[in-house]
This record gives sequence, C-alpha cells and structure tokens, in this order.
Amino acid sequence: MKRRIAIVFGGRSAEHEVSCVSARSVLDALDPERYEAIPIGVTKEGRWHLIEAGPPALPAGSGSLPQVTSESGPEVALDQEPEARALIAPDGSRTEIDVVFPVMHGPFGEDGSIQGFLEMAGVPYVGAGVLASAVGMDKAVQKVLFRAAGLPVVEHEVVREREWEEDPEGVEARAAHLGYPLFAKPATLGSSVGVTKVHGPEELRRALEGTFRYGRKSLLERSVEGAREIEVAVLGNDDPVASIAGEIVPRHEFYDYEAKYLDEHGAELLIPAPIDAQTLEEVQRLAVAAFRAIDCAGMARVDFFLPPDARVLVNEVNTIPGFTSISMYPKLWEASGLPYPELIDRLVELALERHERERKRGASR
Ligand SMILES: Nc1ncnc2c1ncn2[C@@H]1O[C@H](COP(=O)(O)OP(=O)(O)O)[C@@H](O)[C@H]1O
Ligand SMILES: [Mg+2]
Repeated sequence: MKRRIAIVFGGRSAEHEVSCVSARSVLDALDPERYEAIPIGVTKEGRWHLIEAGPPALPAGSGSLPQVTSESGPEVALDQEPEARALIAPDGSRTEIDVVFPVMHGPFGEDGSIQGFLEMAGVPYVGAGVLASAVGMDKAVQKVLFRAAGLPVVEHEVVREREWEEDPEGVEARAAHLGYPLFAKPATLGSSVGVTKVHGPEELRRALEGTFRYGRKSLLERSVEGAREIEVAVLGNDDPVASIAGEIVPRHEFYDYEAKYLDEHGAELLIPAPIDAQTLEEVQRLAVAAFRAIDCAGMARVDFFLPPDARVLVNEVNTIPGFTSISMYPKLWEASGLPYPELIDRLVELALERHERERKRGASR
C-alpha cells in the first residue's frame, strides 16, 4: 500500500520562499509507486491549503522566489482528534495521511511549533521533536548545550533588545571585548536572514537594530577570520550516523542570503570537503555529539568553522536543512551512498519508528 505523505511547506517565516523550493525537490524525489504525495502549502498568514499541483515552481530567471497564496487550493485543517491522521476541508471532505514531512525552515516550521501541533494530533512526522527543534532554532541556547557537552564553540555574547535600549554602552563594551570584526545575528532565524558582518564599532548600532527586527534576542560572535565552512549530515534516531563532509566556499563576503538562494554562483559546494582524514573524523564525531547534545531525532545538518590554524568549532545545528536538489544535506547523503529517494524512505521510516515507540509508551505515561 502506498504511504500518504503530507509535505508541508511555505509558512509564516522569512524563509517561506526557500521552503517552497525545498518542498518541490522533496516532492520530485518521491517514488510515485510507493508514496502518495499530499502537498500542503501554508500561506504567510499561516493558513493551510491543499495544493494538488505541489509547491509553486521557481519563476524562471526572474531572481524572485515562489510563494504560497490562498488561491493555490482549498483551505484545510488538521483533524486534532488524536490519531485521526486526516485533513479536513470546509465541505467536510477528508484526506487521510500517514506521515507529515514539514519542509519548513525557521519559526513555526523548524522551531517546535508545528512539531507540537502534530504531537497533539498524534501524527508521525519527519525530523526532530519539539525540544530539539526549539533548541536547534535558538543559536544562543544551543551553544549552552554544546558547551555543556564539551563541544568547541566560537566566543559570543547574547544581547537582548531591552539591554540594548537601556544600556547601549554596556553592549558596546561587550562587543569591543569580543573584538572586531564580529558577526551580529538574530538568535532564532536561519538562511542568513538578518546576519551581518560588523567591521568596527561604528557599524554596531545598525547591525544590532537590524537583528532586532526579527526577534528580541541576538548574538554577537567573534568573526572566525579565514575560516573554512564544513558541513556534515546526520541521520538516525538513537543510533545517529554521520555522512562524509562537505565544504561551502562562498563567493560573497560571507555565506549570506543572496549567496545561498539568489546568486547561482554565490557559493561553491565541495563534496567531499578537501580535508584530511583526521579532521574528517573529528567533524563526524562532533556532528553526532552535537546531534545528541540537543536530543535530536531523524535528521540534522551540523555546520562547522575550520579556522586556519586552530581546532574546528561547531557553528550550528539545522534540524530542517535545505532540501533543494542542490542542497548540502541530500547531496552529502548521495555522496555517502544514499540516493535522494532512499534518504526520504529512511526519514519516513525513522518518523514512523519514533512515533510507534512513543505511542506504545503512551498508555503508561
Ligand atoms: N562567527 C563567525 N565567523 C565567521 N563567519 C561567520 C560567523 N558567523 C556567521 N558567519 C557567516 O555567516 C553565515 C550565516 O551564519 P549562521 O550562523 O550560519 O546563520 P544561519 O542560521 O542564518 O545560517 C555563515 O555561513 C558564515 O558564512
Ligand atoms: Mg548557517
């Protein structure tokens, strides 16, 4: 019997468009013999629509990115009756589902919100649970857990909007202590949205105020100058395994939003990363350790900085990594011997396995 897999994409975050592109690739990779795809687009207002045609394709050569709109298909809601596993349309018609693959980056999709919503409805879903998703979305909190697990992270300061308003001199002093150049970033976004390199104190105000447009908590980080950017994919539940490593070589000043999604020559992906065997072993070990440190499940991409003459540093964990056909996560698995369609099978299996285990435990909780 075919599995009915609901691919949920779009959503309320600044990474809406990127999510559409990722979801399109996931859909295209599904084996139609084995899966019935149920594409669900979430508008920027948060409404769910059943979109038969799947995620909107990339408008050719326009430099703009696709978006879900309410015209794309009928609105649906998830049946919240535990274990009902169905979508309901306003006319009462139901669409049964077996598993959900949330292909949504950023707040509401990757931060535990939708994961909690799916837990309540008793629907199995691909990827990390509520806790790991929330931690994976918060660059400040994940660093606390990394440190507690003995993983090396870059020197940084957490700055809250209120602190900046009430004591800018204090924040400036902390920034000076880290030293310039530094990076300012919103604590809870991805895709380099709101990330700026701050070259000197005169640029701090503008950069920090830019980050607070996205949330009340930001990070200042010492810039790891000349660092290479290495990424490792992790897959599994209780026995996570690491892929080979890849390297990102940005053509921009750093790996910014444009380099990631708009400029097709914005960055080069080197797979495998040209690193020695010892460094590879180290990043693979750290990738699994970082996955465990946040109590992750299913999948994650773990990103590293490799400074010229120092030890490797863990930058961040992404619990819903990019899934476009040129994205690092599926590419790393492909190069490790797991083709894209099999990767999706594996992710679905892991989702069902985790759900089944928790459901059995349910009676005794
Ligand atoms: N401390 C740092 N030192 C050097 N480069 C950095 C640093 N922090 C971020 N960058 C650059 O900015 C990019 C985006 O930052 P990152 O923390 O990975 O945020 P995001 O979650 O948006 O990907 C990185 O890929 C890297 O190119
Ligand atoms: Mg990143």
